[in-house]
Amino acid sequence: MGSLTHTSEAPLVLGIESSCDETAVALVRGDRTVIAQAIASQEAEHAPYGGVVPEIAARAHAERLAPMLEKVMGEAGVGLADLDAIAATAGPGLIGGVMVGLVSAKALTMAADKPLIAVNHLEGHALSPRLADAELAFPYLLLLVSGGHCQILAVDGVGRYRRLATTIDDALGEAFDKTAKLLGLGYPGGPAVERLALAGNPRAVPLPRPLKGSAEPHFSFAGLKSAVLRAVESGAHEPADIAASFQQAAVECLTDRLGRALANAGPFPALVVAGGVAANKTVRGVLELLADKHGMRFTAPPLALCTDNAAMIAWAGLERLAQEGAGFAGDPLDFVARPRWPLDPAAEAVRGAGVKA
Ligand code: KG4
Ligand code: ZN
Repeated sequence: MGSLTHTSEAPLVLGIESSCDETAVALVRGDRTVIAQAIASQEAEHAPYGGVVPEIAARAHAERLAPMLEKVMGEAGVGLADLDAIAATAGPGLIGGVMVGLVSAKALTMAADKPLIAVNHLEGHALSPRLADAELAFPYLLLLVSGGHCQILAVDGVGRYRRLATTIDDALGEAFDKTAKLLGLGYPGGPAVERLALAGNPRAVPLPRPLKGSAEPHFSFAGLKSAVLRAVESGAHEPADIAASFQQAAVECLTDRLGRALANAGPFPALVVAGGVAANKTVRGVLELLADKHGMRFTAPPLALCTDNAAMIAWAGLERLAQEGAGFAGDPLDFVARPRWPLDPAAEAVRGAGVKA
């Protein structure tokens, strides 16, 4: 592994992600090459508690981040002097973990005399499809579905987001995780529910589709979650049937709400899905059909780019760098980590909107 010759015109950005339970580091170039990356999951640490424990997460990020940075940069033969900027998640997320990544990035930018880019984690997800798909242009309609968020956004450009819908209670990833917990599948629940659903009948268990057909634009998953609880407690259904029926109800809510967003704010040339739940094949399948029906291009990033990672943070940094142009000095070193940071500051608050419990 020789040292990276810095002859290419494309800028090189280091990305750091630490907002939830993945510690991640990546080196990404402006020509969309992921030079190197590493992800350390904390699943084992949090599994006994059935969810992410903020204090444990922050400590694990603090222990792992520096050695991971050393390893990724060392193996790629990249030194601080080779970087054009350092991008770190600055929120939203579990604040202790966010601070570990952001403060580390600040220290590196001071040592390297390079710009700091404070990235909104949601913007990382929102722009990740453009890292995977060079043809994907603005604007696009984005379904952002993760453990903490469930939103439909019009992505007009870098830093230009219009929130068309959000959840009034639970995020969809959260609903997957709670369903998994009720079925005794452990944490994280999404992939486990998806696997179990393969063996079940999606029509076997009658479950509600909250807000389906409603004139208001938002999502709601609390009623679906309660119905899953009642179905489990009744003892009348196979776990696989409950998993499959839950997933079916969830995807019907997604397509219905996207239809509403298209009616309200469409048309859009492309439909894009991002965030951890975008890893779900049934979700991807129904969205592809919906895009087809509306004559839209469909993009879903590869699975590794859907769940939390640092390549998307580095990419958001590269997008920002390209937008700001020469002479960009970076975000201020006193940039404060933000536990909440909506992509569309003009969007009105909705009760409980997409905040991780
Ligand atoms: O984007 P992400 O990695 O972290 C957040 O920013 O929240 O999303 C994690 C969420 C979890 O709720 C997880 O259960 C869900 O994404 N997830 C899935 C799948 N893979 C991850 N949900 C459904 N099906 C999957 N295959
Ligand atoms: Zn995320």
